[in-house]
Order: sequence, then structure tokens, then C-alpha cells
Amino acid sequence: MTDFKQFTERFKMLTGIDLEHYNKNQIQRRLNVFRQKYQFHTLPDLLAGIEKNAALRQECIRRLTINVTGFFRDPEHWQVLKNYLREMGKYQVPVRLWSAGCATGEEAYSLAWLAMTTLPKNTWELLASDLDADVLNTARAGVYTAKAVKGVDAKTLPLMFQRTGSDLYSVKPHIRERVRFFRHDLLRDQYPFHVDVILCRNVLIYFIEKTKKKVISNLVQALNPGGILFLGSSEQIIGPDKYGLVNENVFFYRKK
Ligand SMILES: C[S@@+](CC[C@H](N)C(=O)[O-])C[C@H]1O[C@@H](n2cnc3c(N)ncnc32)[C@H](O)[C@@H]1O
Repeated sequence: MTDFKQFTERFKMLTGIDLEHYNKNQIQRRLNVFRQKYQFHTLPDLLAGIEKNAALRQECIRRLTINVTGFFRDPEHWQVLKNYLREMGKYQVPVRLWSAGCATGEEAYSLAWLAMTTLPKNTWELLASDLDADVLNTARAGVYTAKAVKGVDAKTLPLMFQRTGSDLYSVKPHIRERVRFFRHDLLRDQYPFHVDVILCRNVLIYFIEKTKKKVISNLVQALNPGGILFLGSSEQIIGPDKYGLVNENVFFYRKK
């Protein structure tokens, strides 16, 4: 058995995360950088390190799962999403939204703000999930640096956040309370159902092709007919028809 195979098998036992589903080159590259940073000579040495040290293990998960995100990431796509929500709000109550792979919460709170300002009051619910328990803790706290809130326009900033300290912005409680964060592994756990809009952005790109297909099928199953799947700007579904989807707007797919 190769060192890499041994690592992924043990990693799965320790963390529940199955690295076999992720792009191998990318995972190997990230593991190498991580190993060198913490001065382990070999992959088995690193494995021994994360077996003994829970904090290091958590840090390793974080390095491998890539948590880069931002408020209103790709703003022009959020405008399209706003139009979809406006349309749904006319016919459907409640509208159920899900940010799958929400990382530290920026996407979920952006979605909460959009729903709050687009849909009739109390006619929507918002789920937000991630594989990584650490990022979910940050998301639940809802406290961000000035750098992190850069993507929020000047008019919206004081409406969404209160300043806490010189460099910190806290999501206002009435927004924070609308988001239900939970830990969810897209590769293992049962999916929510009857969802009207799913954001699964910049998550599929890390999976191998076979896994990507399985996750897309599961996401489609989670959607209500007519529901919308919103992907990241480098993600596209080849042959959406075979999943029962129609590609309506570059990164937006509607379930038939
Ligand atoms: C690059 S971030 C994307 C965050 C946000 N969706 C955005 O586009 O800004 C990718 C997120 O996917 C999560 N992720 C990776 N594998 C996952 C899985 N199997 N199930 C759920 N989330 C996963 C990572 O933990 C990470 O927080």
C-alpha cells in the first residue's frame, strides 16, 4: 500500500472524511505543503502527528478542505439570484433555501440578507451546512474582519452588521438568527428535502468526476420541481438534461 493510500484510509477513520473523492493531485499538493510547514519528513510521520494531536488534525482538515469564501462572491450572479427569489416569492410559501458548503458563513449571511430584502417577511427559511465543524463555529459566531466584509456595499454594511471593536463586524442578531447552520457531509449524510434554492458553489470543483455526478444527483433530489441550483463561477454541469435540469442562466440550473 502506498503512503498516500495508507494516509487516506487512516484519515477517514480519524475524521470521517473520505479523501478518495477529492482531486488526488490537489490533495497531495496540499498535504505536502502542510507536512513541510509542520516539519514532518514523510507522510507516515505526518499521519503519526495528526493521530496524536487533535488540534493539528483539525488544522489539517482545514488545509485540505479549502475554506476560501466571501460575502456576495461574484456580485453579478447575486443579481440573477435576486430575480429568481423575487419570482418565487410571488407564488410560493415558504421558500426553502440551502447554502451547501457554506464555509465560514459569508455566503449564508449574504443569502439571508437577499431573502430578507426580496421575499415577504417570514416566508422563507435558510439552511447552511459544511463538512468542517471549525468553520461552522466561525459561521455561527457571525463576526468578521473589515477585510472580510469588503464585498458588502457601503449602504448595506451598516444594515447587516454592527461594529464590535475597531476592526470587527458582527452580523446583526435578527439576521444571524434566521440561518440554521448544521454539519453535513455531501458525500455521506442524508440531504435535506423540499428545497427551492440550493447554493453549492465552489465545492464540486474539488471532487473527482464520479463523485461530482453523485453529488449533483443528490442535490437535484433535494430540490422541489422548479427549484434552482446555483453553482460557482468555474463549475458547469455537462449534460444537465440527464439530471433533470435545465441550464437557464450560466450558473443557474432549474429542476424540471
Ligand atoms: C471554497 S469553500 C466555498 C464556500 C462558499 N460556498 C463560496 O463559494 O464562497 C468550499 C467549502 O466546501 C466544504 N466542503 C468540502 N467538502 C465537503 C463535503 N464533502 N461536504 C460538505 N462540504 C464540503 C469545505 O469545508 C469548504 O468550506
